[in-house]
Amino acid sequence: MSTLFHNISELRTVSDAGTIKDGALLVDGNGIITWVGALNDLPQDLSEGVEKKIDLGGRAVLPGWVDSHTHMIFDGNRAEEFEARMAGESYSAGGIATTMEATRNAGRERLEQLLEERIAGCHAGGTTTIETKTGYGLNTESEALAAEVASTGVDDVTFLGAHLVPPGADADEYLEEVVGTMLDAVEPHAGWIDVFCETGAFNEEQSRKVLEAGKKRGLLPRVHGNQLQQGPGVRLAVEIGAASVDHVNYLSDDDIQALASSDTVATVLPACDLSTKQDLAPARQLLDAGATVAIASNLNPGTSYTSSMNFCVTTAVLQQDLSLDEAIEAATLGGAKALRRQPVKGGEDAQGRPGRGSLVPGAAADLHVLNFANAIELAYRPGMPATYRTYKDGELVFGVE
Ligand code: NIG
Repeated sequence: MSTLFHNISELRTVSDAGTIKDGALLVDGNGIITWVGALNDLPQDLSEGVEKKIDLGGRAVLPGWVDSHTHMIFDGNRAEEFEARMAGESYSAGGIATTMEATRNAGRERLEQLLEERIAGCHAGGTTTIETKTGYGLNTESEALAAEVASTGVDDVTFLGAHLVPPGADADEYLEEVVGTMLDAVEPHAGWIDVFCETGAFNEEQSRKVLEAGKKRGLLPRVHGNQLQQGPGVRLAVEIGAASVDHVNYLSDDDIQALASSDTVATVLPACDLSTKQDLAPARQLLDAGATVAIASNLNPGTSYTSSMNFCVTTAVLQQDLSLDEAIEAATLGGAKALRRQPVKGGEDAQGRPGRGSLVPGAAADLHVLNFANAIELAYRPGMPATYRTYKDGELVFGVE
């Protein structure tokens, strides 16, 4: 089955092909892009093979957002903590414990239902690739269940047992559990390992121990670092070859240089910065220095209770001095790089899977169709409903055909 998506005012490929006016895409029965270009340039033989046409009504199309940092597996609510913060309290890592009991008590069905609702929310906002972390159960049973449930719904699962030492636990004993029985139980369901390397959570030595243990078991490292103050997170992430270091609010010149000369993606989380009343991460400086930047939502109950990548991209343009092109790239290809899912050869990623975050032949047909003819309206009309339809692997996951 060959489907032609056409009548696209502005097709932002996030590739060398750039933005194509009156664009079109051909997609095969497996949801893989087979051709991209201006409709007028569609070769005759390909045009004759088209079995279905989807008219997108003169709207703009981008790659679906790649949300490379979320915490979707939790139950409970921290609205009170948020309200107190808005009244002047400051954020601290300890808040993670607030939803721990609710998450432990939720059970499989409830976690599955919550995850399904949260994924639907992502699709409704144009997100097509989702990473989620564990990290709200903080014992072996609950972390393993979180990873298992997550693996049934999202693209990438990250083990974050090292999110916080649970209240009352001994730090050393808990760390032994994380790198021992917990890692054993979670590893079959996860591809990544993460640690909250920050004062009040885990120090450099503890963080290194967690990441090394995960690496030995085949999990790829990523790091929460430099969120609340300058510290070792970025340095450790680069040194250990992490795919990304996330938050990056407080950076030294050395941190910025280290990121610029590495493959470690600097992931900024604008919604989290607003919700915790931090200065927005220095995305402009990072890009100017030559670092790769990703934008992600950081959906979680404490610091960023939103999955709206539209909001995050708008904020990056309005408040972080990114151009629209830069913000779109950071939220698509940048996120894909943070998950090592970007197209590298023939549209496939380094593992031979359909690439994400860029609309090129051989990559997945993950399409975000905007309600607007011009993508700049994402920032020009902030907060307005922006997503018309979302397709993942060529299948409609949001909107009506
Ligand atoms: O990415 N920083 C660490 N972890 C999460 C949320 C923590 C929380 O629930 O307070 C984050 O912001």
